[in-house]
Amino acid sequence: MSNVLTRSAKGALPVWFASTDTWDEVRGGLSPAASAFAKASGFEPTPGRVLTLPNAAGGLEGAVMGVERKGARWRDPLLAGKLAGALPAGVWRFANAPGDAPRALELAALGFGLSAYSFRRYRKPAQPGPRLVVPQGVDAKALERTLDALTMARDLVNTPANDMGPDALEKAALAMASRNGAKARVVRGAALQKGFPLIHAVGRAAAQEPRLVDITWGSPKAPKVTLVGKGVCFDTGGLDIKPSSAMLLMKKDMAGAATAMALAQSVMQAGLKVRLRVLLPIVENSVSSDAFRPGDVYPSRKGLSVEIGNTDAEGRLILCDALALADEEAPEMMFDFATLTGAARVALGPDLPPFYCTDDALAQDIQRTGFETHDPVWRLPLWDPYDSMLDGKISDINNVSAGPFAGSITAALYLRRFVEKAGAWAHFDIYGWNPSTKPGRPEGGDAQTVRLLHDLLERRFGRGRT
Ligand code: BES
Ligand code: MG
Ligand code: ZN
Repeated sequence: MSNVLTRSAKGALPVWFASTDTWDEVRGGLSPAASAFAKASGFEPTPGRVLTLPNAAGGLEGAVMGVERKGARWRDPLLAGKLAGALPAGVWRFANAPGDAPRALELAALGFGLSAYSFRRYRKPAQPGPRLVVPQGVDAKALERTLDALTMARDLVNTPANDMGPDALEKAALAMASRNGAKARVVRGAALQKGFPLIHAVGRAAAQEPRLVDITWGSPKAPKVTLVGKGVCFDTGGLDIKPSSAMLLMKKDMAGAATAMALAQSVMQAGLKVRLRVLLPIVENSVSSDAFRPGDVYPSRKGLSVEIGNTDAEGRLILCDALALADEEAPEMMFDFATLTGAARVALGPDLPPFYCTDDALAQDIQRTGFETHDPVWRLPLWDPYDSMLDGKISDINNVSAGPFAGSITAALYLRRFVEKAGAWAHFDIYGWNPSTKPGRPEGGDAQTVRLLHDLLERRFGRGRT
């Protein structure tokens, strides 16, 4: 068990959830001391407000937290995350459910666990905080697995590029593979330049060489699911250099790789009946005399020649070679994750990543599961009429379109040119970052779509051994 969750309810203090509709009833069940204290404090059960309650001896009786009333337009299922920062150290349990939605208790416990995260690599360890008894009926192991996977991804994204360059990210990926009994190989140097010319071109200017990590796990007979994650450890933009304000956060440009790793770990630990492959093109998009240039033309793994319209559109370049490799074995399902475009943020903001999918039934399943797991995504179209925006003048394809429009869509269309044989492919243009703290989502790195896709894969393929 992680240190924030426990299974033993012994001595745990109760937390009551109350809305304006239920507060009188909840207060009626408290001891006279606690009830009088709540009244004297002027407590109102506004969503997210927390009050610790005294017993007659002046110790703690429990706590109460306000939640949205039933029928409210929007109830945040992770709101209980507020408790992690508001309750004193000790063991707590939910005395009632925060709502009647099917997964209310599970998501409340998850919110608590996710909010308890803090990035401590460069600071002294956090003081012990409150711990939560896993509610009855909630799968403690699954919850634990999710928290472990997301913690790993958050730590990877939050670590700055001086400590999370290509060497460190490769090491973390190989460690994750070996912890979970997966096989791994790394392509670098001359083999990379020959087999994956675009990964090499993007990464060759950096002090730490570009590479491709290729992880496989599971029975070769099981349905093949392949995950590809953008691992740009830092994105300066290259010779099309970013202004400082746009570069500031670019340590997080490997969040796609971190997301693929987190999903892979949770799939392996749950023992899903799939043959999993994880491809992580890992580079730093740097500036040096050896940097690739605007106007350069390179071959790609697939054979299409690619003209570099913009060195800052590097994500799609490293992904297209990895996707081409993934596609060669015609996996049943292929997902890629990438902090690919600023345009995706302009369209949908940081919390709702757009996704693109070649299969309508899968797309519907993804969108629905996103809402159910409160890990939401929104489908945007692979709009065929825009595909010609990428046509090359002296090459088969340009890595950017000439105009300013539909930037996330044209990036997805670029990637689609490298996918042919996969049964179904979905591309997630993630942000990988919480700009400010919200319940379950502390400011900093995060791995969007992991919970959603784990749920979907588990439902589709089932669990075997664990
Ligand atoms: N890593 C960036 C995209 C990005 C920027 C994601 C900010 C999240 C927040 C990517 O490599 C990039 O620079 N994309 C360019 C593409 C453009 C040159 C066509 C962009 O979005 O501006
Ligand atoms: Mg870029
Ligand atoms: Zn980038």
